[in-house]
Amino acid sequence: MLFCLVLAAFFLVSVTEADVQSTTFHLLKQDAKLWPLAGTGRDWVKTRNAVDCGSICHSLRPICNAFNWHPGNFTCEFVKTPNVTLQDAPGAMVYVNSSSVCETPPPPMANRTLNFSHGWNGSLPAPLLSEVSYDCPRHSRCPPPLPLKAKCVGFNAWEILNLNVTPPCAGTEGYRLFLEDGRFYKRYQGPMNRTEASQVCCVDGARLASDTNVTVYSAIRSVAPNTTEAIVQGATDELVEGTWIYEDPSFLQVNNTPITSYIWWGTNSSLPVGQQKAPNGGQNKNCLILLGVYWFDIPCATRLPFVCQYY
Ligand SMILES: *[C@@H]1O[C@H](CO)[C@@H](O)[C@H](O)[C@H]1NC(C)=O
Ligand SMILES: *[C@@H]1O[C@H](CO)[C@@H](O)[C@H](O)[C@H]1NC(C)=O
Ligand SMILES: *[C@@H]1O[C@H](CO)[C@@H](O)[C@H](O)[C@H]1NC(C)=O
Ligand SMILES: *[C@@H]1O[C@H](CO)[C@@H](O)[C@H](O)[C@H]1NC(C)=O
Ligand SMILES: *[C@@H]1O[C@H](CO)[C@@H](O)[C@H](O)[C@H]1NC(C)=O
Ligand SMILES: *[C@@H]1O[C@H](CO)[C@@H](O)[C@H](O)[C@H]1NC(C)=O
Ligand SMILES: *[C@@H]1O[C@H](CO)[C@@H](O)[C@H](O)[C@H]1NC(C)=O
Ligand SMILES: *[C@@H]1O[C@H](CO)[C@@H](O)[C@H](O)[C@H]1NC(C)=O
Ligand SMILES: *[C@@H]1O[C@H](CO)[C@@H](O)[C@H](O)[C@H]1NC(C)=O
Ligand SMILES: *[C@@H]1O[C@H](CO)[C@@H](O)[C@H](O)[C@H]1NC(C)=O
Repeated sequence: MLFCLVLAAFFLVSVTEADVQSTTFHLLKQDAKLWPLAGTGRDWVKTRNAVDCGSICHSLRPICNAFNWHPGNFTCEFVKTPNVTLQDAPGAMVYVNSSSVCETPPPPMANRTLNFSHGWNGSLPAPLLSEVSYDCPRHSRCPPPLPLKAKCVGFNAWEILNLNVTPPCAGTEGYRLFLEDGRFYKRYQGPMNRTEASQVCCVDGARLASDTNVTVYSAIRSVAPNTTEAIVQGATDELVEGTWIYEDPSFLQVNNTPITSYIWWGTNSSLPVGQQKAPNGGQNKNCLILLGVYWFDIPCATRLPFVCQYY
């Protein structure tokens, strides 16, 4: 009940302020949202989205004229409230100027498609604060933490978000189809350690390749034919010594033994007799290379060329 009164009060305040222009206000959003306790007097609160603005105003006085919402700078002005505090407001609502919509579509971005799964279905006009993301046409297995977005921030005003922190779309440049398994492979010179190499591959929508059977071995060799060059593979036993987890989940080694009969641990004749058979590095060598047809365990800090497998 109190909640409804407060909302009504807020609505009235807004309309009173705009009575000369007789602006229409629309309900924007409704959501459960927590609002931090604010002090008394006059506060400016920058909203992350408009729902923050509609918090319950809990007053020592019977009437609480709490908020003015400023869509232009996304702030709530908390005013005329001596001895008033704010409370959490699940189901808070806010009213905004109904003219604050985007009748124009978000600007296009080369090579990217608009993705409307962000609370707006794409039909115009777009309500204030509508968001749309720009996705890369090629599936990335490493989605950026902050996708490229456009947001309606005022009348026909689209703001582009995350432009400088979203990596460009992965290209297919340099990926070669290996007919036998229908997958695409690319050798990178690097040199990079396993985690760096893995990141490069997943941004491409690929994964760091590993020699897991004869087909994949041939595929890797189709792009990295130099058998005297070590390449880092997509596997590590850093979690449990001897249990090699591969980026290809169909392959695994327990106690340094593959779950299939495909096994190519190598022998390093430069090492003292008795220690020549790989794996021999224990906890100091939790990463895996391919050298010739053989696997060797190596320290994970080692930087080497590598091959990505797009699947
Ligand atoms: C936000 O915009 C309103 C109205 O334009 C202005 O009065 C207010 O000072 C602005 N607030 C901040 C914190 O910039
Ligand atoms: C606010 O509270 C203080 C102390 O509780 C009181 O002295 C003051 O009169 C109150 N102000 C208003 C406007 O109610
Ligand atoms: C509502 O938006 C229209 C168009 O942007 C503007 O002309 C008008 O002044 C706004 N009204 C208020 C109260 O902000
Ligand atoms: C779009 O794709 C084309 C063809 O792959 C490429 O030449 C161009 O640089 C791309 N543009 C952007 C902005 O990514
Ligand atoms: C669209 O965006 C949503 C939310 O980020 C995401 O889950 C979905 O995979 C995207 N759709 C496409 C086709 O990329
Ligand atoms: C999109 O949303 C608007 C408003 O919520 C609705 O009127 C319209 O029918 C929707 N369109 C589609 C294609 O779902
Ligand atoms: C090799 O492994 C891949 C999965 O990584 C699988 O698709 C392919 O059928 C396997 N080939 C052989 C000969 O086992
Ligand atoms: C093959 O790799 C080895 C070791 O990195 C290098 O010394 C050699 O020059 C490479 N051979 C060719 C043909 O690139
Ligand atoms: C073989 O052992 C030597 C001597 O410790 C080392 O320098 C070299 O990196 C090892 N080779 C491989 C493939 O692990
Ligand atoms: C791999 O490289 C990254 C980035 O330079 C670095 O943060 C990380 O510590 C390296 N990993 C190892 C095991 O050295």
